[in-house]
Amino acid sequence: RKNLVIAIDGYSSCGKSTLAKALAKKLGFIYIDSGAMYRAVTLYFIRNHINVNDPEAVKNTLEQIELNFHSRDYQSHITLNGEEVSEEIRQMPVSETVSEVSANKQVRREMVKQQQRMGKSKNIVMDGRDIGTTVFADAQVKFFMTADPKIRAERRYKELQSKGDTTTTLEEVFENLAHRDYADTTRAESPLTRAEDAIILDNTNITESEQLHFALDMVHQHL
Ligand code: C5P
Repeated sequence: RKNLVIAIDGYSSCGKSTLAKALAKKLGFIYIDSGAMYRAVTLYFIRNHINVNDPEAVKNTLEQIELNFHSRDYQSHITLNGEEVSEEIRQMPVSETVSEVSANKQVRREMVKQQQRMGKSKNIVMDGRDIGTTVFADAQVKFFMTADPKIRAERRYKELQSKGDTTTTLEEVFENLAHRDYADTTRAESPLTRAEDAIILDNTNITESEQLHFALDMVHQHL
């Protein structure tokens, strides 16, 4: 491929999007949050009471959904049929359902197709679960991120609180991450797994800026 792709995969709440945004900004690449796409589709399923186990319903639903990204300073602003849903897709109802919807074969095929189209000609950083293994198996640089589960839950909990969620407990966040990690790694269709050529990045004990420097070093070595 002529354009450059940096693929970032890993467990839930490992700071994938933080690193992806920072890299995109430094390198002048476009950042694409593939998780936001699965979350927005999930929101549509929830709102419209769509049964994810009904192939006909899923097919019709996917035809009715249009997702678009609006890049504002490398944040992931996503619209669902024209409506800005970036905040709502981060809330617990979506987090609790997204792994079930994203395990669906039809949903994945459609999302992967759209993601590949977005990365066809531009330099991009994309984060998710199957970017280095499926969406862009030919990405020039791949990272696989991990961190201690307790630290991850604490980070996500603080983030929810800072956004005004005062009802979700730390235990609930911890359980949701554990549940999603389990569902994401054990599903049949492109499960979360490290691509053989992915660089492992454990950020339990390093700062955001140390992480960015490490990743930039790796990018420069690989490009
Ligand atoms: O990245 P984020 O945590 O927002 O993703 C939410 C969920 O979307 C994940 O737990 C996973 O079930 C699904 N996902 C996926 N494949 C991707 C990105 C996200 O299955 N490439």
